[in-house]
Amino acid sequence: MRNRFQFSLIACALAGVVGCSADVQQVASQAGPNALSFNDRNHNNKLDIYEDTSAPVTARADDLISRLTLEQKVKMVTGTGFSVSGVGGSEKVPGAAGSTFEIPELGIPAMVLTDGPAGVRIEPKRENDDATYYATAFPIATLLASSWDKTLVAEVGAAMGEEVKEYGADIFLAPGMNIHYNPLGGRNFEYYSEDPYLSGNLAASIVNGIESNGVGATIKHFVTNSAETSRMWMDAHVNERAYRELYLRGFEIAVKESQPWAIMTSYNKVNGTYTSQDEVLLTDVLRGEWGFEGLVMTDWFAGDSAPAQMQAGNDLIMPGMPDQRQAIIDAVKNGTLDESTLDRNLRKIFTVMFASPSFNHYDYSDKPDLKGHAEVARQAAAEGVVLLKNKGDALPLTGSQTVAAFGNTSYEFIAGGTGSGDVNEAYTVSLVQGLENSPLKVERSLQKSYDAFMAAEKAKQPEKKNFFDLLPPLPEFEPSEAMVAKLANSTDVALITLGRNAGEFQDRGVEGDFDLTDAEQSLITKVSKAFHAKGKKVVVALNIGNVIETASWRDKVDAIVLPWQGGQEAGNALVDVLTGKVNPSGKLATTFPMSYSDVASSDSFPGFNVSDEEVTDPYIGLFVGHHSQLNYEDGVYVGYRYYDAFNIAPAYPFGYGLSYSSFNYSDLQVTSNDGNGNVTLSATISNQGDAAGKEVVQLYVSAPKGSLAKPVKELKGFTKTAALRPGQSETVTFTLTPKLLASFNPAQRAWVADAGEYTLMLGASSADIRATATINLATPVVADKVSVTLNPSPKVKEITAQ
Ligand code: BGC
Repeated sequence: MRNRFQFSLIACALAGVVGCSADVQQVASQAGPNALSFNDRNHNNKLDIYEDTSAPVTARADDLISRLTLEQKVKMVTGTGFSVSGVGGSEKVPGAAGSTFEIPELGIPAMVLTDGPAGVRIEPKRENDDATYYATAFPIATLLASSWDKTLVAEVGAAMGEEVKEYGADIFLAPGMNIHYNPLGGRNFEYYSEDPYLSGNLAASIVNGIESNGVGATIKHFVTNSAETSRMWMDAHVNERAYRELYLRGFEIAVKESQPWAIMTSYNKVNGTYTSQDEVLLTDVLRGEWGFEGLVMTDWFAGDSAPAQMQAGNDLIMPGMPDQRQAIIDAVKNGTLDESTLDRNLRKIFTVMFASPSFNHYDYSDKPDLKGHAEVARQAAAEGVVLLKNKGDALPLTGSQTVAAFGNTSYEFIAGGTGSGDVNEAYTVSLVQGLENSPLKVERSLQKSYDAFMAAEKAKQPEKKNFFDLLPPLPEFEPSEAMVAKLANSTDVALITLGRNAGEFQDRGVEGDFDLTDAEQSLITKVSKAFHAKGKKVVVALNIGNVIETASWRDKVDAIVLPWQGGQEAGNALVDVLTGKVNPSGKLATTFPMSYSDVASSDSFPGFNVSDEEVTDPYIGLFVGHHSQLNYEDGVYVGYRYYDAFNIAPAYPFGYGLSYSSFNYSDLQVTSNDGNGNVTLSATISNQGDAAGKEVVQLYVSAPKGSLAKPVKELKGFTKTAALRPGQSETVTFTLTPKLLASFNPAQRAWVADAGEYTLMLGASSADIRATATINLATPVVADKVSVTLNPSPKVKEITAQ
């Protein structure tokens, strides 16, 4: 029988990947039969300090550090390596992304790190093992953000964390929380929003949920990782105000509100320095200014100098390679890296490790509550559905109507994106399966045509070249006009699903991705014409991971519903909304512009090559790109901040979403105001419609200009009501602080709330303000003085609003 190591080597040879066998060897060598627990060792019944859970953590860490040789220290600040064949680096949990080293002679076990963020990514099947290890595919982050529901997001986190723990892992490589900088960003689906306040608060909620299980969460990718193109060689040039107000701010909130176990630095540079090698960022800002206590790890194979990463305060290098260990040893030996720097980093790693399930010999079951979590996933998926259009109350669909389901993805729903953010789930409920589980009926002859067409097209598809390869979508089935006319006669309603997928390594394109394909456009036209001719409605469902164009076709259809990529229960969740079992309450966490050219960074994204030479990563040879640069010329004007300030009407604004009910906002009151920026507000929200429903209430602030140009308004609070019965009301409350009123003023090295009048706006969306109040600051308030000057940007020329 072949052992795992031989198997990996064979797979590796087949994959023909550069440097692969060395990597595999590394992974294999950490799995020994000699892993002793400290209980097995001879202690004369006396615990060493590092083992003594009653001793202070720093004393335990220092005791353990004092027992390590330089070689052992260097092992512990790097992971054990990577196997391309297993797409991961853990022997204990196959398919997990990485692992730390064990030190058997000291009873130190390996910690297992697993992706993230839509669920636990591990191999569902193992050699010589009949059991399965499927994980729940939860909805993508962008959908969770559209729920605007911190409690729900924390519940999802708690369910994810239970799977991390019960599958034997310690640290979850999630949540992702980069800003949706441009709709073409290939990994936007893994991130929450274009707004840092919403992103930061939701990230904190999910971290708290995950960590309630006694496992770690990792907020990533720190920071300004907006593009996938050339991501390992990308230099983000960004001025300090935008850097602090948009890109760092969400992370700052998440750190302060949830103190995660870990943070993952990004691949890119900011203003000339790799984030994983940026001491100012990692030590002075993250730890010094924000008080981060956890460990910092690199993204997989990021950066170009392991000693510089150590020096910067990037404690753990992942997945960890032999030449990186050698470089650290050499640097210590030649005096360019102080051994005490390693000790400092080890203290962070060991503090986390002492709390980890593996260190505490947690007896994991390999049987997480998958059934319970499917329910959580379904509920979350429904809460994040956004109803974009509902002309003539086309929805909800009632009774046992027969639905003609058009669009390939009606039959094969996309649960989530690709790459490390993918999940190996046991099943995905498609829209059609969701319909079958409801009182509605599916038109069978159309279903048969789609099934046959898609099977034939799939047979023509190329094999995936590697795990990260994103195959082109199947061509859209094009039913004939006669077929559509017949269906318009025999069915009650048309449902067209448009699908999109994206993932790690590649950004999206405009043609046929942001924009619809010709086949999709003609499908919408054909179906709408035929069904409207018979007085029947047409509903479009968007099974997408990020923003697409809607303006050119939306007038042709009656309803548009946005179920995003809702995880494994997506079809059931969408049908819950279509039938009115769940009243939609999702709102957009990211703007849908009229066209791609309306996006602030449409000309500059994803940057430009600074050299023609093609570069490849030295370890697995899968990452290919150019040294490139992206200038953040839009400054603080990203997303709605841009559309508002430059008077560009979006197709659907930030914060927008309809309900089957309607809500009234009244009685906005400033309930307290200390004159220094500490303010509380309340308002009454009542359900004026006929259906029970929830309302997301958003608080925007418009600040006086002072010495800086300010966005027209910025989100500074949000809440979601309970499900209100028709006629029922709820009082919502908000708290503002000086920091929430402030902008970062680089000249004053501080967050400053300028003197003057602030308009506080309660909105059903950023473009639908329902109630306003004003407060005044007599003098400017310095909300937060910073001590650190971030790496200066090579002065990016920014657009300015009047
Ligand atoms: C991704 C990370 C992920 C890591 C481990 C990297 O390619 O950027 O988000 O956690 O791989 O799989």
